[in-house]
Amino acid sequence: MKVKFATSNPHKVREGNLVGKKFGMEFIQIKQSYPEIRDEDVSRVAEEGARFVFDRVKEPVIVEDTGLFIEALNGFPGSFSSFVFRKIGNDGILKLLRGEKNRRASFISAIGYCDENGVKIFKGIVGGSIADKKRGVEGFGYDPIFIPINYKRTFAEDPDLKARVSHRKKAFQKLCEWLISGSKKA
Ligand code: IMP
Repeated sequence: MKVKFATSNPHKVREGNLVGKKFGMEFIQIKQSYPEIRDEDVSRVAEEGARFVFDRVKEPVIVEDTGLFIEALNGFPGSFSSFVFRKIGNDGILKLLRGEKNRRASFISAIGYCDENGVKIFKGIVGGSIADKKRGVEGFGYDPIFIPINYKRTFAEDPDLKARVSHRKKAFQKLCEWLISGSKKA
């Protein structure tokens, strides 16, 4: 089974397909852009994005939105993670947390799946902490500064670990289970 995945980020497609292949699913990247609404909830961003893309391509499609939520910054950058990454990047986040003892953070991924029956949302979350400095070269975005809970390495140092425990892995797992169960008719 193939489902279109509207994203400009090939890493996301690769990570989705690592999960998908276990279910006989394939996510095919399409570069249809969509407006990212301003909302603190990544689910709402994914929901509106998926609806927008479905209205254009008229085929089942997914959109995924991720946020990095840092506890000491009251959840910042959250659903504005993309904008913040472009503006201040990992160095800027590390600067904001300089001297801060509470480094707890989590990634939340929301996948919006849209077909003729409407949108359904699948969420995945991984807790962890922000490293003291950037470590590792794999992955993308905030991966060099994020250490998942109970581990010592960042996602950028250990992509296999990311594939096992990440927010995206969990969200795609839920999506795939639902798709293969055929419950979209429910
Ligand atoms: P978006 O979901 O593409 O809007 O991503 C928001 C921001 O978070 C972008 O700057 C991404 O690079 C970053 N990001 C998204 N997913 C991940 C991830 O799995 N690891 C690290 N950074 C991510």
